[in-house]
Amino acid sequence: MPAITSSAPGKIILFGEHAVVYGQPAIAAPVMEVRARAIVTPLIGQPSNSIQIQDPAFDLENSIKDLPLEHAISRSIELTLKELGVTSHPAFKLQLSSTIPLAAGMGSGAAISAAIIRAVSTFLGASLEDEIVNQITYEIEKIHHGTPSGIDNTVITYQLPIFYIKGQTIEMIELQHSYDFVLADTGLKSSTAITVGDVRKAWEENPDKYNALFEACGDIALEARLTLNTADRQKLGRLMNENQKLLQEMDVSSPELDLLCEAALDAGAFGAKLSGGGRGGIMIALVTKENSQEVSDALMAAGAVNTITTCLGAQNE
Ligand code: MEV
Repeated sequence: MPAITSSAPGKIILFGEHAVVYGQPAIAAPVMEVRARAIVTPLIGQPSNSIQIQDPAFDLENSIKDLPLEHAISRSIELTLKELGVTSHPAFKLQLSSTIPLAAGMGSGAAISAAIIRAVSTFLGASLEDEIVNQITYEIEKIHHGTPSGIDNTVITYQLPIFYIKGQTIEMIELQHSYDFVLADTGLKSSTAITVGDVRKAWEENPDKYNALFEACGDIALEARLTLNTADRQKLGRLMNENQKLLQEMDVSSPELDLLCEAALDAGAFGAKLSGGGRGGIMIALVTKENSQEVSDALMAAGAVNTITTCLGAQNE
């Protein structure tokens, strides 16, 4: 049995985070420059069903038996075996690694799950279809986030930009134009479970205010979906700035994120906003190929710990 390697990308939310949890549309895209990886290798001479896990990022070097049952890695494997109807399998080692920043709103948890599910199922001779990988990854997201909308696991599984409404058919966006982004990491770890929980509390206390904010985010996402067809980057940038204002009103931005957004705009970005759960993690800025380096430099000077430049859509426009 040969070793099997699978990987899955990071992601950004272009429009509509948080509101998407409440049924509003949102737009997300994969970030191929960063990836989570899972390698499965047979463990010759070990008893059937033994699984060794290595995940240096979490100092993990264990037998799966030593992990709690509710651990995301154990659950990813357990649900994959269940889906395949496998009750006995050859011993294997699962090595995990990732270049996706952790707790930064880039979907590192969902990407690791998707990579595990693909690597383990392929190792056992039955690669699972995207739809099933997506379903299992969503189950694991519930461990991470409690009440996820499903947008993260979907964009990470299909590795394409998506227009997403919870519970509806997923729309893959075929971009006819290219869009350049600089992503900047505040370096502040932020738990999506906490920000999503805080927004829920605030919504319960003030439903009228929050429903209006969610609807306004949904309108922006709808408008952005149409604008993506036109290559009107000025307008797309304006929509990002409007979305950022709504996220500030939802109390999920932070002084660090606001500062980075301002720095990007001052350096010539069309628009800038936080991306993901907020209160830390990353922000994104829509730029041109020509000014991406200048914006990236400005973000580093304003306190970002790292930047990533990525391009979505038609590369030869
Ligand atoms: C996290 O990437 C996006 C949120 O909207 C949570 C979710 O949709 O599950 C904050």
